[in-house]
Amino acid sequence: MPASPTATPEHIKDVNTRYHDAAAHEYDAKWGIDFGEIGQDQVRAKLVKALGGRDGETFAEALEIGSGTGYFSLNLVQQGLIGKLTATDISPGMLEQLAGTAAALGLDDVTTVATEAEALPFADESFDLVLGHAVLHHIPDLDRAFAEFKRVLRPGGMIAFAGEPSRYGDRLAALPKRAGTLVAPVWRRAVGARGRAIAEADQSEGHALEGEVDVHAFAPADLRRLLERAGFEDRHVGGEELLANAWGWGLRTVESSAEPDTVPYRWRRFAFRSYIALQTVDAKVLEPHLPAELFYNLLVSARKPA
Ligand SMILES: C[S@@+](CC[C@H](N)C(=O)[O-])C[C@H]1O[C@@H](n2cnc3c(N)ncnc32)[C@H](O)[C@@H]1O
Repeated sequence: MPASPTATPEHIKDVNTRYHDAAAHEYDAKWGIDFGEIGQDQVRAKLVKALGGRDGETFAEALEIGSGTGYFSLNLVQQGLIGKLTATDISPGMLEQLAGTAAALGLDDVTTVATEAEALPFADESFDLVLGHAVLHHIPDLDRAFAEFKRVLRPGGMIAFAGEPSRYGDRLAALPKRAGTLVAPVWRRAVGARGRAIAEADQSEGHALEGEVDVHAFAPADLRRLLERAGFEDRHVGGEELLANAWGWGLRTVESSAEPDTVPYRWRRFAFRSYIALQTVDAKVLEPHLPAELFYNLLVSARKPA
């Protein structure tokens, strides 16, 4: 459910800060975020798709917007695709997790700065890449944010964003969520998981704020117009993940109905492998042939004129 159309930008940003601060500690476990080979392969593929198929491009200094716990950027730093990283987020709690992970991975060239995307505390022409994953849909004033991205980029620098919900995909996700809710009791009996005591989770601040953090779901044309208005060139908008996402939402819905430590390992292994297999089917069979609007996630890239 998106934020109310009458919610002020300040309210949306405040809710995003509080919601993500509350979610930070459990975030990696909840979303299955991986900083090993699997996570690195996933984000590399996303960056390549966002850049319209260009692989192996490296960026000396990068600024990430809405870094969260570092899924996108730390996995790119580990592969040497990003040299020096400045990770930003409106939620200090998320950045604390990111800094801990960067230290555990032995990544020295990572700095964190708590800031919102619409007013960046960096000098003009400071970075070669501005990137983000699953963040644009939370930002109230995207024209302001994109003007900031362009300002802090060096001439010829790139922006690359992935994981943005498409309007069609957002509606599509409601189906597996509903199906997951219906089959959850049968699934729990079949795998031997115990029903979750949801009362406590439902009363948490995070749960109460969940419906208010999202502001946009995009059509590819919206993103193309946004890039054009901001004065970027070499604009590219693509789509990714259809089957994998539908399946993933179903999995998450049934799993969240059970006490996490009662979900058997063999189920988790099956769920993960089946998700990765469907990601491959999406990437090899569907993404090259279907229009971007049909996919759950949109990816964009563009260049600041040299
Ligand atoms: C869905 S999470 C994605 C986190 C991370 N990029 C990932 O893919 O795992 C969105 C992130 O954007 C941050 N965020 C929300 N609104 C923001 C804003 N206006 N400016 C900067 N960051 C924001 C949130 O705090 C959160 O960490």
